[in-house]
Amino acid sequence: MSVDRSVEFTGIHFENPFLLSSAPPTESESNILRAFDAGWGGVVTKTIGLHPVVNVYGAKAKFQRTSPDDASVSMKKRPGAALHSSWNWELISDKPLDWWAPRIRRIKDAFPNRVLVASIMAGSGNDKELRHWQELAEACQAQGADALELNFSCPHMDRRDMGSNIGKDQGLCSVVTEAVKAVATIPVWCKLTPATPDIVVEAAACFRGGADAIVSSNTFPSLPMIDPETLEFEINVDGLVSSGGMGGPAILPLSLAKMAQLTQAFPDRDFSGIGGISDFSQALSYILLGCGTVQVCTAAMLDHAVGPNVIRKLNAGLDDFLERHATDGWKRIADFRGIRRDRVVLQSAIRRPDEAGYNAGFEAVEGYATPLPDDEIAGNS
Ligand SMILES: Cc1cc2nc3c(=O)[nH]c(=O)nc-3n(C[C@H](O)[C@H](O)[C@H](O)COP(=O)(O)O)c2cc1C
Repeated sequence: MSVDRSVEFTGIHFENPFLLSSAPPTESESNILRAFDAGWGGVVTKTIGLHPVVNVYGAKAKFQRTSPDDASVSMKKRPGAALHSSWNWELISDKPLDWWAPRIRRIKDAFPNRVLVASIMAGSGNDKELRHWQELAEACQAQGADALELNFSCPHMDRRDMGSNIGKDQGLCSVVTEAVKAVATIPVWCKLTPATPDIVVEAAACFRGGADAIVSSNTFPSLPMIDPETLEFEINVDGLVSSGGMGGPAILPLSLAKMAQLTQAFPDRDFSGIGGISDFSQALSYILLGCGTVQVCTAAMLDHAVGPNVIRKLNAGLDDFLERHATDGWKRIADFRGIRRDRVVLQSAIRRPDEAGYNAGFEAVEGYATPLPDDEIAGNS
């Protein structure tokens, strides 16, 4: 039986809802062509900036594994260990815009029906820098990019007005989105950092600026482990390390929690989910919470650099799911997207053996400690 894997997302038609996220798998023309050959519905380019980038000495990304016997987390390879996470301190693309522009055109010419999203990033401290965002947006869309993803989430930026520092500042989120929307002729997605107390605040700001979708999560800020023998960080340069980003299985539940907040606050908006996806079961959690597309990085890095087996499994898992649920009348993703969004509720709404006298562990309260009304919790205030 043939099934319909396609989705419409921010007005774009996708053959399937699975994208490679902005990261090493999408850092070159040859990788992206291989990814489309392998069957990915879309690709988000490694983030493109205007200014040269030089990465640190040595490895820019590594994998952390955990052992069943002692539950330790370490980058050291050992038998029987399972993947825990990826850890990276890689900056944005070290290739300039001039390098990317003709390649975007060639990739689109080779795969006109696949979706190519250009991830872009600049500073945001003054009008000149806002103009940089516009320059990047105009150049990428002129070469045929289908959408723009604004990187408000790179965790490695020292400057207060770049990367995840934009994603922590609702004013900057709004201003940069608005600046890009002023010149964009294609949809604009904003990729937010999860490193903020209430991601709904920054998402609302992006929507105020005109964003067509929110993407979450980028990697979570984290440090590598300190080796108990050498007392050195497992990844370091001259003994020094800076805060890096963690991805992969370890962030899946964290990222789902961020996504649930987002989709509950904005049930009618478009969301692309990322974090810890390696097969359809994980993608399904994001879709059931309301995501229209999902993106993958760590699992693809570990599978021939662009994830040919990962996309095969994702597509096969979706096909199998649709076939099993044909009797429910589900023919495509749109038929079940978001059906578990409203199952995330306040602790007090969960049934318990003895409801009598339950008051969440405190006396009846007034004023400051009064629980928030539902509409404030949902971010609608
Ligand atoms: C080595 C590495 C480099 C990355 N570079 C970028 C980047 O340039 N731009 C971006 O938006 N996200 C970047 N990311 C974040 C990923 O796109 C993704 O959001 C994150 O890894 C979580 O997904 P995962 O759990 O599937 O790995 C990078 C991740 C890794 C591991």
